[in-house]
Amino acid sequence: MLKKNIEVICNRQVEREGYSSNLYIAMASWAETNGYSGVASWLYSQSDEERIHMLKFIKYINERGGKAIMPALKKPEAEFKDVEEVFKAVLKHEEFITSSINEIVSLTLDEKDFNTHNFLQWFVMEQVEEEASVRVVLDKVRLVGKTNMYEFDRDILSLRKPAANAGATP
Ligand SMILES: [Fe+2]
Ligand SMILES: [Fe+2]
Repeated sequence: MLKKNIEVICNRQVEREGYSSNLYIAMASWAETNGYSGVASWLYSQSDEERIHMLKFIKYINERGGKAIMPALKKPEAEFKDVEEVFKAVLKHEEFITSSINEIVSLTLDEKDFNTHNFLQWFVMEQVEEEASVRVVLDKVRLVGKTNMYEFDRDILSLRKPAANAGATP
């Protein structure tokens, strides 16, 4: 049975992963309507992954005798200056999510909740990958994007990590 404070903080993460999913749809929609179909595909795929992260938390909370709560939707940022600004915002958001996951890890140690601690290890590794992959994209935007946005948009999907690491099964 989950302790109440662990259940509450895991539900906070349900909200944050759900928000991440919606944020990336909002960004994908911006990209799609500004002619960047590659960037849009990258972001739609990213959004799907975030939904899976949300489901992982929902299922874990319920499995351990807690009650997962679907939160109200917050309206994500939807206007951006350019593609570089989008990916800077993605990186900033992923750094926020990393610190959010680390806070839960820290609480599980305080509470000696080793099951939840173990459950979170996948997310700890996932955040390392997420931040690294967004940094690669940002580097590419800065290198190629300034002179040839067409090429960047065409090649961005090749920068995605393989689906096997994407955590397809919640
Ligand atoms: Fe996530
Ligand atoms: Fe993420």
